[in-house]
Amino acid sequence: MAPSSLTLPTVILISILSLISPSQSASCTSQSFTNNRLYSFCNDLPSLNSYLHWTYDPTQSTLSIAFLAAPPRPDGWVSWAINPTGTGMVGSQALIAFREDNGGMTVKTYNVTSYGPLTESRVWYEVRESSAEFSGGVVRLFATLVLPERGRESLNQVWQVGPSVTGGVPDKHEFQPENLNSKGSLDLLRGESTVVTGGGDSRMKKRNIHGVLNVVSWGIMFPVGIIIARYLKTFPSADPAWFYLHIFCQVSAYAIGVAGWGTGLKLGSESKGITYSIHRNIGIALFSLATVQIFALLLRPKKDHKYRFYWNIYHHSLGYSIIILGIINVFKGFQILNPAPKWRNAYIIVIAILGGIAVLLEAITWIIVLKKKKSSKSTKPYGGGLNNGHGRQEPLDP
Ligand SMILES: *[C@@H]1O[C@H](CO)[C@@H](O)[C@H](O)[C@H]1NC(C)=O
Repeated sequence: MAPSSLTLPTVILISILSLISPSQSASCTSQSFTNNRLYSFCNDLPSLNSYLHWTYDPTQSTLSIAFLAAPPRPDGWVSWAINPTGTGMVGSQALIAFREDNGGMTVKTYNVTSYGPLTESRVWYEVRESSAEFSGGVVRLFATLVLPERGRESLNQVWQVGPSVTGGVPDKHEFQPENLNSKGSLDLLRGESTVVTGGGDSRMKKRNIHGVLNVVSWGIMFPVGIIIARYLKTFPSADPAWFYLHIFCQVSAYAIGVAGWGTGLKLGSESKGITYSIHRNIGIALFSLATVQIFALLLRPKKDHKYRFYWNIYHHSLGYSIIILGIINVFKGFQILNPAPKWRNAYIIVIAILGGIAVLLEAITWIIVLKKKKSSKSTKPYGGGLNNGHGRQEPLDP
C-alpha cells in the first residue's frame, strides 16, 4: 500500500540510493543479445561464471530469462532451474541446454527428483518458448516461462554446467565447491540474487507482522468494538461501561491499525513493479474512515442537540463501512500473503463466532426493546441501529 503522496519522495530516495550503490559494476550489464532481446534485470551469478538476465511480469506470471554459462567442454550442457520446494538440486525444475546429435542446440525440461540419471519430463512451470545458442564457448539459454503461482516475488534458483551428454541424456556434473554452491534465491522484482542464507527472511517477517497487526485491528478489534456499542447498551446495567469499553476497543484498534497500515505502506514502497491496487486502496479508505471516526468523538453534539440524530447516522454508517471493508481487506491480504490455510480458516472461525454472537445479541436486543415498548409507550423501539438508545446516559455528555 503506497498512496501517491508517498510515491514521489520514495522515488527520489531510491534514485539517490541507486546513484550511491555500485550497481553498475556487474559485468552482465555489458552483455547484449541478438533478436533485440532486452531484459529488465541481470545478475552475475556467484559461481560457475554464469549470468542470468530476466524480465518478470507478475500480473501474467511470465518470466523470460537468458542464462549464460560456459560448459566445461563444447559438447557439455548448461542448466538453470527453479526449485519451488527447496534450495538445492533435488526438487529443482530444470531447463537444460545442450547440442543434439543432429548438431542443433536444444532446451529440455527435467523434474530433478534424485541424483540419478535424468529423464526429460514435465515441470512445475509451463515453457512458452525456449531456445539456445552456442558461441565463443558460452551457451545462451533463452526461455519464457509461465509460473503456476501468481504474484511470486522471489524464487530459489539453481544452476549447473556439465561436461558431456550421452545418447541425449546430460551426464553428471563435477562435485567441486563451485558446482555445489551454485544456488541462491532470486528477487524477481528488485533484481537481486542472494546466496542461500535466508535472504528473503526479513521481508517475509515484515509481511507477517503486517498481516497480524491488521487482522487483529481491522479484522477483529473494530468489529468487537462495534458489537460492544450496539448490543451492550441495551442492558441498563452495562451503562456506562459499554461506552468506555467501546472507546477503549476502538482507540486501541486504531493504534494497532495505524501501525499495520504503516507496515503496509513500507511493503508497498519496497515492492517495485507489483501493486496490489485493490488491497492498497481499501487500506487507504479504511485508514481515512477510521481517522474520521476518531475525530467524530470530538465533534459529537450533545445528546439532545438537533444534529445528534445526523451525527449518529454518520457515525454508524462509517462504523459499518469499516467492518465490511476491514473484513474484505483481510481476505485480500490472505490472497496476497498466501499463508498456510490454517490461518485463513482460523480467521473465518473467529469471524463466524463474532457473527453468531451478533445475531444472538440482536435477537436478545429486540426482545428487550419490544418488552420495554409494551411496558412504556413513550419509549421508541431500538430499531435500525441509527437512534441512540433513548433514556440512557452517555457519560461523556456534559
Ligand atoms: C516431479 O516428481 C515428483 C516425484 O516423482 C512428483 O511428486 C512431482 O509431482 C513432479 N513434478 C511435476 C511438475 O511433474
